[in-house]
Amino acid sequence: MERCFPDDFLWGAATSAYQIEGSPVRHGGGPSVWDTFCTLPGRTWRGQDGYHACEHYELMDEDVKLMKEIGLRSYRFSISWPRVLPEGRGMVNHQGLDFYSRLVDRLLEAGIEPLVTLFHWDYPHELFLSGGWMNPDSPLWFRDYTATAVQALGDRVKKWITLNEPQCFVNGHGNGYHAPGLTLDAVSMVRLIHHVLLSHGRAVQAVRDAGDAETEVGFAPVGITAIPQDGTTEAREAAWRYMETIHDFEPEKLAWNNSLWMDPVLTGSYPKQYFDHYGRYLPDSFEDDLGVISEPTDFLGLNIYHGQQVDLQGNAVGEDATSRIGEPITACNWPVTPEALYWGPKYFFQRYNKPIYITENGISCRDFPDSNGVINDVQRITYTEDYLAQLARGIREGIPVKGYYHWSLMDNFEWSEGYRERFGLIYVDFKTRRRIIKESGRWYRSVISQRGAQITGKL
Ligand code: NOJ
Repeated sequence: MERCFPDDFLWGAATSAYQIEGSPVRHGGGPSVWDTFCTLPGRTWRGQDGYHACEHYELMDEDVKLMKEIGLRSYRFSISWPRVLPEGRGMVNHQGLDFYSRLVDRLLEAGIEPLVTLFHWDYPHELFLSGGWMNPDSPLWFRDYTATAVQALGDRVKKWITLNEPQCFVNGHGNGYHAPGLTLDAVSMVRLIHHVLLSHGRAVQAVRDAGDAETEVGFAPVGITAIPQDGTTEAREAAWRYMETIHDFEPEKLAWNNSLWMDPVLTGSYPKQYFDHYGRYLPDSFEDDLGVISEPTDFLGLNIYHGQQVDLQGNAVGEDATSRIGEPITACNWPVTPEALYWGPKYFFQRYNKPIYITENGISCRDFPDSNGVINDVQRITYTEDYLAQLARGIREGIPVKGYYHWSLMDNFEWSEGYRERFGLIYVDFKTRRRIIKESGRWYRSVISQRGAQITGKL
């Protein structure tokens, strides 16, 4: 059987701070906008929050042992900015920084390479009170926080991600579904987006300054993926068009596209379509800023869960979630479309020519233990096997995919959906915090130990 995955492929799993650790306010940190957002009535499922989450802050040693048992080569986690800097800038909570330092040590002892995300949505509440991403100084706040993190961990952490899914947390300012729950106007959104992009660029500079020759940095947007209707060139071009287009200029949906994020970072310019629409609202400094925003990066992280079928005219087919009943869908109604892991990396590599990490991919299932405590999550195995096979197809064609991070290592706080959605390879009993490796975790272990050889058999 032909092998596709290179020997140094990073087989990983991912989490984020607020979703697993327990709130930073309990251990000398400050609140994030997610701590405060969760107190608003009706914003999260059953009013749930991440105050306890998986208690990973307490149970970190046990969790690293479980990662080792699964055989992970790499672990993607995020640093909670307000855990390290309770007010977002200034005073450091050393206890918080030490936690991450210990985590990195434990990982390296277990032979697991850390991939660290600097920002996974838990913005310091204190800085939010000063305008948050709206404030023109916010890129400097993010730069300084990044410098603190890289100075403390950069001797051991060689891979950094600046921002996770800007599309989602920026939308939290446009449609209010996520923290901080704002519904800003378009002019404010354009400014905010510019500051977020500039923050990425400033953070890249800070990583370079504090890192060394081995240090790599990139960002991890959602890779919004289209699947061509058939094998014709015409269908592929229609899908390509869909992926590069900004489909909606309303503030609630403005952030939800690829090009607005990837073009400035990877090509140094705003998409023409966006510039024609909103260029007049950009700050005067925008051209100089684009030089910072496009500071060279080493890789492109892509979070891809599903793809959108597109017809020959480049229009989405069957978008309404209710129309998917009876079709392959996950517990949270996302379509199951393995080909997304073929077409996404193919398009993004062709357009931006960067090595790729799949920084997230996974499925929410209604998992529960049987009477013997076994979690037989066969749908997660099926899903992952099929997606990985499509990824392998792309790798075989020469797309440089360097790693795959399953979302998630463990069941956790799924933001506005609370603890309703279980994405983990490890089951978490949220009453006792007991962990159990699911059957999918065992299966993933065998995939890793055979370096994906059995996946290639699916092709
Ligand atoms: C995207 C986010 O990065 C992560 O935080 C979230 O839990 C998963 N996808 C699943 O929705």
